[in-house]
Amino acid sequence: MSRGLRQLGRLRAACSLGTRPSSFGLSQSRGLTGALPELTKDRYPHVKRGDYATLDENHLRFFTELLGTNRIVTDPSQCEGYNVDWIKNVRGYSQCVLRPKTTEEVSRILAFCNEHRIAVCPQGGNTGLVGGSVPVFDEVVLSTSLMNEIISTDDTSGVLVCQAGCILESLDTHLADHGLMMPLDLGAKGSCQIGGQCGTVLGLEAVKANGEILDCLSTLKKDNTGYHLKHLFIGSEGTLGIVTKVAIHCPPKPKAMNLAFLGLDSFESVLKTLKKAKHELGEILSSCEFIDERSLDLVTSRLKLKSPLAVHPFYMLIETHGSNNDHDEEKLNTFLENVMAEGLVLDGTATNEVSKMKNIWELRERITEGLPLEGYVFKYDISLPIESFYSLVPAMKERLGESAVRICGYGHLGDGNLHLNICVKEFTQDVLKRIEPFVYEFTSKLKGSISAEHGIGFRKPKYIHYSKSHTSIELMKQLKTMMDPNGILNPYKVLPS
Ligand code: MLT
Ligand code: ZN
Repeated sequence: MSRGLRQLGRLRAACSLGTRPSSFGLSQSRGLTGALPELTKDRYPHVKRGDYATLDENHLRFFTELLGTNRIVTDPSQCEGYNVDWIKNVRGYSQCVLRPKTTEEVSRILAFCNEHRIAVCPQGGNTGLVGGSVPVFDEVVLSTSLMNEIISTDDTSGVLVCQAGCILESLDTHLADHGLMMPLDLGAKGSCQIGGQCGTVLGLEAVKANGEILDCLSTLKKDNTGYHLKHLFIGSEGTLGIVTKVAIHCPPKPKAMNLAFLGLDSFESVLKTLKKAKHELGEILSSCEFIDERSLDLVTSRLKLKSPLAVHPFYMLIETHGSNNDHDEEKLNTFLENVMAEGLVLDGTATNEVSKMKNIWELRERITEGLPLEGYVFKYDISLPIESFYSLVPAMKERLGESAVRICGYGHLGDGNLHLNICVKEFTQDVLKRIEPFVYEFTSKLKGSISAEHGIGFRKPKYIHYSKSHTSIELMKQLKTMMDPNGILNPYKVLPS
């Protein structure tokens, strides 16, 4: 997706699958701290294990011969990090993690698993927030972590081709030497892998359930020859195939960047400020993010981050990217003078110093990391028409009253994507029932989406109908049956059973 299309989320482009702050290195260290969540099979007893094979010595012998002993993990304590999602919502009990390096190895693993009916859970950086990237039962985990080779970088076309396990931040660092940058950015950049971010690719290579390699790795900007099969993998969360390589169109790194952090006293002022930012900043507006008071309070109280502003009900981050700093600064300053003169913004600070910009972005990007410190977190990732963007937060506060420790909202205002988070001391079915399906019904009535960017994963298949028609869901099921007839790829995820 090119920047020209102007997605106003965390600039550059809309992100797709799950996110995790870069400071959380579960996928890198695989170390787990604190209490483990209940096993998914116990917390969700209505989900039954499919009729898949249980791993035996013969299976393990095949995997070991293929990968060697160093690239297969069977020690239960080492498997644990692959079994738990980082917000500790779900936990499987896989006893086998495979770490292939090449497409051919993935192909041989899948062909074998398909033949022997072994269920497989593909896993990238394990940054997902909907339980999509960890096993539900004992699925074999296929980790793409070692598939981290950059294959080519073309400075002129801006096309990067790499393996699916490359980490977003490493790719961005690599591209900086070429005067380019990744077309997306998110809090989990330090651990999320590009294979899980397929919404932004030009082309991709994937391995089907039967081991066949599908080459859609086109690096052309325009290629209208038949069905655009790469799109099948966007939103499929590893249920249709395992993405092994991607080609990405990367924009030039901007010469000038400015960031404003604003305090506002009403959501009406937030909307008016967004509209003015679009009109007055025009082509240099690259990001418009939103934080409410309870979200900012979380990072200042729990993570001890410092906010440069006094306490306000709402905050906005507005970032500009351009090629001429004097021009950009002048535009931004005029915009800020106008919104303050009109009383829309009560307080604000603007900077182009890298360290100050980083500190401000941390206030937004590290909210996710603060939430689990409160207890158990129910996370919702909703798209809503912009005028109703915040409506779910007060509605939920009224509904839950004192039973929640914290209810807060933040997100990608420019994309109309709200992250509603409800923290409780501990998970109970009672609170769950008071939140769901209410949250989805509310969203559906407003014609929103029940998952803007995090996906459906394990947590939401039974609610997909709030966002997709019966006909669409049936077609998805037919595609799944055609591409993975034995259902070995990421079972229990995305589609309702
Ligand atoms: C974000 O925008 O911070 C991520 O999507 C993670 C989250 O929703 O907490
Ligand atoms: Zn987000």
